[in-house]
Amino acid sequence: LVIVLDFGGQYNQLIARRVREADVYCEVLPYDVSIEEIKAKNPKGIIFTGGPSVVYEEKAPLVEKELLSTGIPILGICYGSQMMGFVLGGEVAKATHREYGKTDLNVNTNNPLFEGVEEDTSCWMSHTYFISNPPEGFEVIAKTETCPVAAMADVDKKLYAVQFHPEVMHTPYGKQMISNFLYNICKCKGDWVMEDFAKESIERLREKIGDKQVLCALSGGVDSSVAAVLIHKAVGKQLTCIFVDHGLLRKDEGDEVEQVFKEEFDMNLIRVNCEDQFLDKLAGKDDPEEKRKIIGEEFIRVFEAEAKKIGTVDYLVQGTIYPDVIESGTKDAAVIKSHHNVGGLPEHVDFKEIIEPLRDLFKDEVRNVGRAVGIPEFLVSRQPFPGPGLAIRVIGDITKDKLDTLREADFIFREEVKKAGISDGLGQYFAVLTNLRSVGVMGDERTYNYTVALRSVDTSDFMTADWSRIDHEILARISNRIVNEVDNVNRIVYDITSKPPATIEWE
Ligand code: XMP
Repeated sequence: LVIVLDFGGQYNQLIARRVREADVYCEVLPYDVSIEEIKAKNPKGIIFTGGPSVVYEEKAPLVEKELLSTGIPILGICYGSQMMGFVLGGEVAKATHREYGKTDLNVNTNNPLFEGVEEDTSCWMSHTYFISNPPEGFEVIAKTETCPVAAMADVDKKLYAVQFHPEVMHTPYGKQMISNFLYNICKCKGDWVMEDFAKESIERLREKIGDKQVLCALSGGVDSSVAAVLIHKAVGKQLTCIFVDHGLLRKDEGDEVEQVFKEEFDMNLIRVNCEDQFLDKLAGKDDPEEKRKIIGEEFIRVFEAEAKKIGTVDYLVQGTIYPDVIESGTKDAAVIKSHHNVGGLPEHVDFKEIIEPLRDLFKDEVRNVGRAVGIPEFLVSRQPFPGPGLAIRVIGDITKDKLDTLREADFIFREEVKKAGISDGLGQYFAVLTNLRSVGVMGDERTYNYTVALRSVDTSDFMTADWSRIDHEILARISNRIVNEVDNVNRIVYDITSKPPATIEWE
């Protein structure tokens, strides 16, 4: 076990992720956890994260000096490094030049932290303060042009500190440095696997929930599915899942979800078919945000009504994952689209507490947990699907006919992508039923039908994206099949816009 002590930095979970990637188990704990608690966990190492504070501030979060002499190896990052320096009597000063972004770095490759790292490399900096004078016993092991102590170490005491961020991708040898800390310095074995995460979290959930009742809104998406299966493995039928089928799902999706969770996992699943209710509410509405709002509200209403039938429950499960936590935490960001799956909580359901078993994980880690607990691959590797479903892929007002048309076109697109064997390389791909009709000719007859847009993007974080360069032959096949097999469609276009300036979805 390695403990990541959280000082409020932006990249803290990324540090935890890097540790897990090196196959070492880690826990993120608040900085003010007691030394006794830390010792009781018997960690092989501790990492101090970055954070927004300045060591001289009155309320600056500091560790007790004693923690730095327990013999447990420690790596301080950014604020964590300054704090280590400060507590041990070194000097921290305001830099004359702030360093932000990619910075050239010169390292001492003889130090175990930098084994296998190039002497002249680069790193990602983001700081205003730095260590100007290291504490006694420390040697400087890296510097940049303006930062005299980009890294320092007291090898005997196993204390290491880096001003830069090894956890971000932009530090090319960052992963290596973290592995060096874990293997060379903490002597971790690196034998932890995702199956262990699943086992441990099932164990913890079982302990926490005891004989209490749990309720979950299952959408069939990756996150809620994995969360539900973990809880189910922990407490079986004490978990009830409510699956609101709003009629805005892709072709056959509702049945697939029901099949997997009811039959394969033998879960307590209530499927609520309420297509008509949703379509009634959405009739004539063509504003994307209004559509989202209606669906979000209706969803909660249906969920509450079902939950009422069950009565009081103790826990409500949310499939929140780490990127959701960051996204919904950025208060100052402008609302581009009001994603309804984040933060929308039922007000009239009686529950004591929310459980979020995936809160610390990134999407690919969630998929791996899903695999570890035996969720079928088609569900685990499913691309993201927005909560409001096809309602935001039928541009303008929604009718059942339009939805059916889109479902068929989208199915063909996905089927051909699968046949071509290119799905792994695509971030998200789907069809959109545009509101545009145009003139065509079929069998000597004039047609006046809908245009379907195909959208496929390559992306790693869905915040930015580029359009996928799908082979023209594959696009040709898809286009051909859609116009031939789907009624009311006579034209196909391929969306070649990146995000920004466009968004991934059309609405
Ligand atoms: P955009 O269109 O904003 O999409 O570039 C980024 C990612 O978010 C998904 N998305 C949504 N997910 N509710 C959701 O749960 C929504 O209202 C919503 N809108 C977009 C989109 O599919 C993509 O993965």
